[in-house]
Amino acid sequence: MSETAELKLDGKVFNLPIIEGTENEKAIDIGKLRDQSGFVTLDTGYKNTGATKSAITFLDGEKGILKYRGYGIEELAEKASFVEVAYLLIYGNLPTEAQLADFQHQISRHTLVHEDMKKFFDGFPSKSHPMGQLSSLVCSLSSFYPESLNPNQTKEEFELTIIKLLGKMATIVSWIYKKSLGHPVIYPKNKFDYVTNFLYMTFGQRTEDVVIDPVVVNAMNQLLILHADHEQNCSTSTVRIVGSSDCNLYASISAGISALWGPLHGGANQAVIEMLEKIKDDGGDVDKWVNKAKDKNDSFRLMGFGHRVYKNFDPRAKIIKKACDDILEKLGINDPVLEIAKKLEEVALSDPYFVERKLYPNVDFYSGIIYRALGFPTEMFTVLFALGRLPGWIAQWKEMRENKEPIGRPRQIYVGEINRNFVALEKR
Ligand code: CMC
Repeated sequence: MSETAELKLDGKVFNLPIIEGTENEKAIDIGKLRDQSGFVTLDTGYKNTGATKSAITFLDGEKGILKYRGYGIEELAEKASFVEVAYLLIYGNLPTEAQLADFQHQISRHTLVHEDMKKFFDGFPSKSHPMGQLSSLVCSLSSFYPESLNPNQTKEEFELTIIKLLGKMATIVSWIYKKSLGHPVIYPKNKFDYVTNFLYMTFGQRTEDVVIDPVVVNAMNQLLILHADHEQNCSTSTVRIVGSSDCNLYASISAGISALWGPLHGGANQAVIEMLEKIKDDGGDVDKWVNKAKDKNDSFRLMGFGHRVYKNFDPRAKIIKKACDDILEKLGINDPVLEIAKKLEEVALSDPYFVERKLYPNVDFYSGIIYRALGFPTEMFTVLFALGRLPGWIAQWKEMRENKEPIGRPRQIYVGEINRNFVALEKR
């Protein structure tokens, strides 16, 4: 393949370097184009723009492939633990037994949050959305650990910041849930593994001993793995771009949490269940809702359908759909919205509107049904997504800093007014 691409502009030829990735993805490097030609490229929504070279996650949207550090998502979801996957994403390799034990031990040493943080929970209105709370609480960690503000932290200091964030996030998420119930918080028990500890703090009671069902632990473990990274999506790009200003890790992740909240991104898992409930309450007429989604005069979209990159199927959705059947059966739960979801998928996948636009169920389509079966209320779903995505965000932030990437700063094409004369207030 040629090493450069030729671009002709106003009779001049510019040679632009071709960049090729290890999975043979190709890009045209336009980094110097403006200096040489005066032109920038325009790509609203970054539909065709690579923002970085990354060695963390690969996905092929046409073939429905997703790999973390070269390992297929299917194998990781079946064989690994969430903490193992977190280690893999952050440090690049699967841990040895000793490395994993040490990593787990370190995280478990940092699961407590500062007692003063509990006052924040008192300040939030009881109905405030868990994502707003999570974003604020994670950002507030930067005030409790001000050493994180130093962009030139030593490697050891930075490692500790990572460990603290991993340990405290699970505690914060479970306490947000306790707050929503008005229940007292449950402190972490470090004899448990990460996922069991999280479920223990979430579903444990001060009044009685609660045994966490291994079916629930396995399901949660798998869901967290499936959400752990997804290359340069909206929230991850946010984390990288915020971090590129030398902003601390906690604040960068907090920004990512805010980006994830939107219903077009991670917030879709909450929106899916709300949509399925609405369809059920409306009599379960799936065709009617599919038609609504196709109607260009109706703002309704099929939530949990479509993806910017996957144009064949979302491999995560495939695994989650199967897990959904298994888990509901094991837990003896019959959720009527599962049938509606399956019918909706069937109708949509045979409809030319969805087929032509290559719209398939995404990761959020079935995950909410599992979260609900595990006992989580709808408003907690996106927070669970964030808990899973945390190692990916950390890995991407770390990579961006280690590669010494410059501050993120897109260009624009200005289309506003030019050269207006100021008119005094009384004359307008
Ligand atoms: N229902 C109905 N029509 C849709 C849908 C949908 N869910 N998704 C896309 N379309 C249509 C859209 O109207 C457009 O049609 P046309 O070409 O006639 O104008 C076409 O398909 C292309 O859509 P787009 O909005 O240009 O595609 P995009 O790549 O910008 O958006 C998306 C991707 C995920 C935002 C979008 O598919 C969507 O809004 N889906 C529903 C929300 C959702 O499930 N989000 C979760 C995404 S996966 C997890 C994550 O990112 O966190």
